[in-house]
Amino acid sequence: MFNGTSGSLTSPNYPSNYTSGDTQYYKFFAPKNHRLIITVWDFVTEVGYDWLQIYDGEFANTGTPLLDWSGNKSTLVPKILTTTTNAASLVWYTDFVKTYRGYNLTWVAENYFG
Ligand SMILES: *[C@@H]1O[C@H](CO)[C@@H](O)[C@H](O)[C@H]1NC(C)=O
Ligand SMILES: *[C@@H]1O[C@H](CO)[C@@H](O)[C@H](O)[C@H]1NC(C)=O
Ligand SMILES: *[C@@H]1O[C@H](CO)[C@@H](O)[C@H](O)[C@H]1NC(C)=O
Ligand SMILES: *[C@@H]1O[C@H](CO)[C@@H](O)[C@H](O)[C@H]1NC(C)=O
Repeated sequence: MFNGTSGSLTSPNYPSNYTSGDTQYYKFFAPKNHRLIITVWDFVTEVGYDWLQIYDGEFANTGTPLLDWSGNKSTLVPKILTTTTNAASLVWYTDFVKTYRGYNLTWVAENYFG
């Protein structure tokens, strides 16, 4: 869990290959009256099997994810996601076969509602 106004996160071992058979959940909380701007700078995984989802709000697996990526997204980064709430949740899943570099992202809180 991350509470605050900015930070960064990468897949395990980044920029070396990530670990297989891994599931990670993270939640990001900005102060009240802020929204989160999340920038994915790099993304390479095994297509179809290793994926990253980012949701608007505190709870993963609710509604349409802001991001649902698997595979080589080198041509689509940097990718900027903006929440409508002061929270975001992230799910990282990898299976047991191939591993790749993974992802790196940064996030900042922006005063929005106040
Ligand atoms: C982070 O914020 C959430 C939601 O406001 C709160 O439930 C949690 O206790 C906070 N965690 C820390 C470590 O401050
Ligand atoms: C994240 O990826 C970008 C683009 O490849 C790179 O420039 C940056 O140095 C990486 N950040 C980290 C923390 O490795
Ligand atoms: C991902 O795609 C880019 C652009 O097409 C390519 O240059 C790069 O080698 C690919 N990376 C991997 C690990 O396949
Ligand atoms: C990372 O994984 C790729 C694809 O599975 C492989 O080609 C590469 O050699 C691996 N790199 C390292 C440092 O293990």
